[in-house]
This record gives sequence, C-alpha cells and structure tokens, in this order.
Amino acid sequence: MWDASQPKATAPMIVEDWDRLTFRVNREAYRSEGIFAREREAIWSRHWLYLGHETEIANPNDFVVRTLAGRPLIFCRDSTGEVRAFLNSCPHRGTVLCRETQGSSKLFQCFYHAWTFRNTGDVAAIPDEQAYQAGEDFRAAMRLRAVPQLASHEGFVFVSFNPDVRPLLDHLGEAADYLTMIEEQHVGGMQTLPGVQLYSVRGNWKLAVENAMDGYHFSPTHNTFVGYLRESGYAVTDDDQYAYNLGNGHSLLVLTGHGGRISMIWEPRFGADERVRTQAHRAEMAERLGERRAHYVADESHILYVFPNLLLFDIEGLSIRQLEPVAAEQTDVRAWQLVPRDEEPAARALRMKTVVSFVGPGGLATPDDIEAYEAVQRGIDATAGDARSGLDYSDMSRGMLDEVKGVQGRSIDEGAMRGFWRRWVDAVGIPDGLHSSGERPASFLEGREMR
Ligand code: FES
Ligand SMILES: [Fe+2]
Repeated sequence: MWDASQPKATAPMIVEDWDRLTFRVNREAYRSEGIFAREREAIWSRHWLYLGHETEIANPNDFVVRTLAGRPLIFCRDSTGEVRAFLNSCPHRGTVLCRETQGSSKLFQCFYHAWTFRNTGDVAAIPDEQAYQAGEDFRAAMRLRAVPQLASHEGFVFVSFNPDVRPLLDHLGEAADYLTMIEEQHVGGMQTLPGVQLYSVRGNWKLAVENAMDGYHFSPTHNTFVGYLRESGYAVTDDDQYAYNLGNGHSLLVLTGHGGRISMIWEPRFGADERVRTQAHRAEMAERLGERRAHYVADESHILYVFPNLLLFDIEGLSIRQLEPVAAEQTDVRAWQLVPRDEEPAARALRMKTVVSFVGPGGLATPDDIEAYEAVQRGIDATAGDARSGLDYSDMSRGMLDEVKGVQGRSIDEGAMRGFWRRWVDAVGIPDGLHSSGERPASFLEGREMR
C-alpha cells in the first residue's frame, strides 16, 4: 500500500501517454487508506461540498441531520427563515446534539447535561449557569459551531470546512448554469420530495463518479432496460451524445439517444396523456425561456457531476445523488427526487413510477451500476502489489484520438473521466502524481460554448 506520509508514491497515480494515446489510473487510488486520508484533508476539508436542497427544510424551524466528510451536521432553517449548517456536536463536551434525523424545532437540547441551543446557534439555557463565572462571555463562546462556509445556488446548498474557500460561483464555474437550467424547467420552480434513499456501496467513491460519466457501459450493463425500451417502441442510440469537461473537475454528459424524461421528452411508455402534457409544457417553456434556451433545458438529458460529491441525473425524472466516502472501499449514497412544485397528481404519479423503475435503488439501472462498481472493487484486488509494470492500472484511453484532433468527445468515450482524474490528482496533491509523456494538446476540450 502506498504510504501518504512518504514524499513520493512508488508509481505514478496517473500515466498519460500522448504518443500511444493511453491514459491509465493506478488502482491504489481506489483502495489505499493512505490516499483516502489524504483526500479527506486535501479535497473534503478544503472544497465546497453539496449539503442539501433548500426545499428539504422548507419552513422556519425545519431541520435534518446529515453526515458530510465524516462530520455530523445539522442542516436547518432557523426561526427567522435563514438557512444554516451547524456541527452536530454539543459545544460543552462534544456529544451528538440532535439525535433525530429530521423534524421541526426552535431548540436543540443535549441529552447529556441538558444544555439547550436556539436554531440560530445562540445558547438558550445552561442548567446551573451561575457556576460559570464568565457570564455572557461564556455563553457567547459556547454558541453552536457553524460550518465555516455556506452558500447556495438555485436552491442547492453547499458548505465548506475551509474558511478561506473561494466563492461558490467560482468553484461551480460552468456547472452553475446547469443548476440554473434545472430550476428553470418549471415555472413554479423545483422541490425535493420528502424522504431520502440511502444505501451503502462496497466501493470507492470515485468508482461512482466514473460510473455516472460512463456512457460506454449503458448498453451492455443495462441490457434488460434497453430491451424494455425497444419493446415499448423507443429506439435507443448512442449517436449524438457527448461528454464535456466543464472545468474544476465538473463534467457533463448530454444524452439524446435514450433520454425520455417526464414532462420534457416523451416516449411511448409514458402514455398518451403525458404526451399532451409534454407538448403543452414544451410550448410554455419556449414562451418563457426563448426557443434556444428551452431546447437546452428540455430536449437534452443531462448527467451532471459537480466535484466532488454531487451527481444530478436529469434522465427519466430528476435525481440528486450525494456521495459520502466512509472508507477507501466504502461509500454511502443519498438520493432525492427533485420534482416540479406545481405538478399535477397524474404527472407526479407517472414520474414516481418511472423514476423508481430505472434510477431508484431497486430500479433497472442502479442495482446494475452498484454491482458493476462493487465488482471493480473486488476485481482489482487481483493486481494489488503486482510488481509487473503497468499491471495494477485501469485503462481510460477511449476517445483520446478525438481529444488530440479537437473533436468533441462522445458520452461513450472516457474523456469526462480523464478530466475528473486530472483534477483529482491535482487537488489531492500527490507528488509526481501525474506522469505525462508525448506532446499534450494545447488545450483540452473544456466547457461548452452554447449560451
Ligand atoms: S455534552 Fe452536551 S450538555 Fe454536556
Ligand atoms: Fe449505469
């Protein structure tokens, strides 16, 4: 195992060769606890992380608890309506303060010695307070600990444990507009449905990122679903589907070949009533947003990855997925449905049926995907420590020729993954982590000029 305390890795994490057009990732990146510890420090403690959606805490005093980068947090809307994130740890002696998963409360009371806090962070009561000599100063020092940075964009709330993190919009860069496009889908805006799908995967978190950006696996891995689409009269194609590096480690797949989405792109399996609703909604969007913008919002399906822990699947319905690495080989995943606020009941019912049948944890896609990345995690044990040159590496070379020629990468290639890994190796700061040979193209295809 590579030791994070050593100044040099024994073998580079990433090897790119522009003469042979190959790109390889050292499999230690998926299994080393040393690298996991380094990621915690260099990525998860320093960058913006997706915390949750504002509509999860729609009303004053609403709260949910959530663990992010291993730290227990309270995500709440205080009694004045302000969105806040506190460490879920009593300032007295550190006990987990809020032991319910969600609810509505103006106060949080620690069960250990009954210190009580308002949801603004102020101390409300300390039993036998006169024993403390410092008075108001003591109360001020014992406020709930806020997460150092919190900001939101289009209802998506991000936090950072780094007080000096750059502004959220700088971090989001080109990804910001895709979050805006989600909010623009419906005139009344979007909301999360109550409830979270929570599952644990025996695999490294980066395998989940790769899987989401991997159009290559769609037909072979999800062949049951592909067969079902064909039987229902919908042609599936990989043509005209592209992958974009949006910069800062964010990436985007733009899918049109298997992109049926409730209220956006009709398919026969959605039925005749949905066809009428989709046509009316499409016309309303063109009116409201202009045809060009409406085209991007409605007619393409997107899978958006926001580095490091947010995945948005704007396919079928709209699923938010949050990655929480627990150990090098273990990841917790939380998922929510984002739905139009003012959706009529028949459309909502169809949406839920459709979403759970594909991207839900028991659907036709997600169990296949989880099996794929757990199988990678098991399979790569075979080459662990193998001294033969280049053996303990995974290959992600597909589409490099297009990259050199300046041709836009396809979703069935691996360009989005390469963009992620280049950002990762830079962010994690492993000395000599990237070994590059041959003539690198002057610019990688980053961003998407269309708006
Ligand atoms: S640890 Fe919370 S009141 Fe003592
Ligand atoms: Fe998949």
